[in-house]
Amino acid sequence: MTIRALLASVAISSLLASALPAMAQTPPPADPLAATGHWSIPERSQARTPPMGWNSWNAFRTEVDEAKVLGAARAMVDSGLSRLGYTYVNIDDGWWLRRRQTDGRLEIRTGLFPSARVEGQDSSFRAYTDTLHGMGLKAGIYTDIGRNACSQAYDLHSPNLPEGTTAEREVGLHGHVDQDIRLYFQEWGFDYIKVDACGINVYGPENPLVAQYDYTPVPPLIDQVTINRTDISAVQTLYGEVAQALETHNPDGDYILAICNWGSADVRTWGKNVGHMWRTSGDITPTWTRMLHNFDSASTRALYAKPGAWNDPDILFIGHGDFDQNHLTEARSHFALWAMINAPLLISYDLRQAPKSLMDIWGNADIVRLNQDPGGHQAVIAYASDDVQIIVKTLSNGKKAVALFNRGLAETELTLTAAQLKFADGAPVQLRNLWDQTASTFTGDTKFTLKPRETLVFEAAGQRTLSDGVYLSEVPGDVNVAVDGVIAPEPDPVVHRMRNAWGETRGSGERPTYTGWGGAQADATPYDQALRIGGQGFDTGLGVLTNSRLEVRNEGFTRFEAQVGVDDSTRNTRDAVRFAVYGDGRLLSESTPVSFGAAATALTADISGVEIVEIVARSEALTSDLPLVVTWGNAALRR
Ligand code: GLA
Repeated sequence: MTIRALLASVAISSLLASALPAMAQTPPPADPLAATGHWSIPERSQARTPPMGWNSWNAFRTEVDEAKVLGAARAMVDSGLSRLGYTYVNIDDGWWLRRRQTDGRLEIRTGLFPSARVEGQDSSFRAYTDTLHGMGLKAGIYTDIGRNACSQAYDLHSPNLPEGTTAEREVGLHGHVDQDIRLYFQEWGFDYIKVDACGINVYGPENPLVAQYDYTPVPPLIDQVTINRTDISAVQTLYGEVAQALETHNPDGDYILAICNWGSADVRTWGKNVGHMWRTSGDITPTWTRMLHNFDSASTRALYAKPGAWNDPDILFIGHGDFDQNHLTEARSHFALWAMINAPLLISYDLRQAPKSLMDIWGNADIVRLNQDPGGHQAVIAYASDDVQIIVKTLSNGKKAVALFNRGLAETELTLTAAQLKFADGAPVQLRNLWDQTASTFTGDTKFTLKPRETLVFEAAGQRTLSDGVYLSEVPGDVNVAVDGVIAPEPDPVVHRMRNAWGETRGSGERPTYTGWGGAQADATPYDQALRIGGQGFDTGLGVLTNSRLEVRNEGFTRFEAQVGVDDSTRNTRDAVRFAVYGDGRLLSESTPVSFGAAATALTADISGVEIVEIVARSEALTSDLPLVVTWGNAALRR
């Protein structure tokens, strides 16, 4: 990158940062790589672990009604699911009747929600949320960031779409952010809101539907086919306004904001500043290959999730299609995978009549516990292939959870090594199978045979490779990618591409364009290569681009250490990078500039008493526009 390009990218990031809502704690520094000594994302009281509960959409679409929702709520309480943590009961699209034109107030479809009809008064969800709160549950509602919602474009057959004039049918937040958020949270008592994005995506003037149904044409801010045509900062600003209104109307921070813009607009980078979770892909469907697609959109982004801010690969589809009671292997895999990557666990099934076999999946307390581990460390991919994957999650009790995942249709054998768990080779490893509670022990390595589409999941105890510390890639929940060095957003090529469940194979196929490629990764480079410096491989470390800054929480460790250098996979083989370690904003240690081909350099720093360690890779005079990949090999905090 030329100096001009560098300055331009700095200017763009400052511009983006300045569009952040007031929630961000400190004003953006002029130099985004300058150490701040702060954890730069807001500390939140809600969603310290991934939100859990129920959502109406995959079960009922717009045919949601009060009996169905309260029936699910009752079943959650009676079955004990709520005691496991399933507490949010979320109505999705379909609840609204119209926006009243005299004062802009939203009216509820009281035919579906009878308790919302109050004689002689405005319709209100207060009685409904009181009922849920009385059951010890929490209430979630749904809206859209634009004028119109998704169902108004995609569920046109539905009898439950908003009614009336063009303006009356504009039930989304556009022009009413403050009014609606106040209504939902202060007056109606909701605790959670999902904010969809069809209103800034599908109502473009060229869409025939717009004229046909007399919608206000809205030039799309999100283009799901071409990243370069999405207006990232405009999307970010709109969600920032919602975050601001939520703060105003919930001064105690007692709310959850779920951003639903399907991985677009580089939400991976800014979602954590604005909301508590953000969708990483388009909608899940009840098909195995679409589940793979949604899983892949989140599984390579461990470093972007942490307590209060989660990757969301979408609502569970357990109970339907490929995950119904006749496909329990698939249903269990879906559940275990979501649990491992710290996905929100939102059941979407008619719980009034759920078979025990499905209840046992959602109710697997051990697997729920690993999802809800307070450390908030998303699982990291230890072994990657299109056929099988081994993913490992650090638990706060020092143990690991490991999932052995057979993605394919053939029975397959795999070997699990102690090293993949970052456990010592020579010491015994105890495994407890979280599906059937069987226990086993191995030293060094062990083999398993997996049925087609099976996911085995274990809790593993052993002797940690690093007995006096942690590798940073083991604790993604303690690492914040403040600046990831990405120059231009790129689509992510490792996401599984499936034939659309709803489509024929006309055209040339759908390419996922979820931004996120090139971001920081645990135990891999930003482009999913194995970490390697000057011919030396590293199974452990962080891979990132130059001109990046990562914040790391330090709880009592005294020494930072890493083997640093330009990664052998870099496309920019010309330019140099300097690695620096800061403690609470002070420079502690710095490398000399290093370039492609040089052996890894040891970098250590005394971090005694430091709360926030920042690790910065900086290139001052880039001569190439190609991305410069850098590796923090074996990066660790030690005592
Ligand atoms: C979009 C969202 C879904 C669901 C529907 C409702 O497709 O991504 O999760 O909320 O809208 O219409």
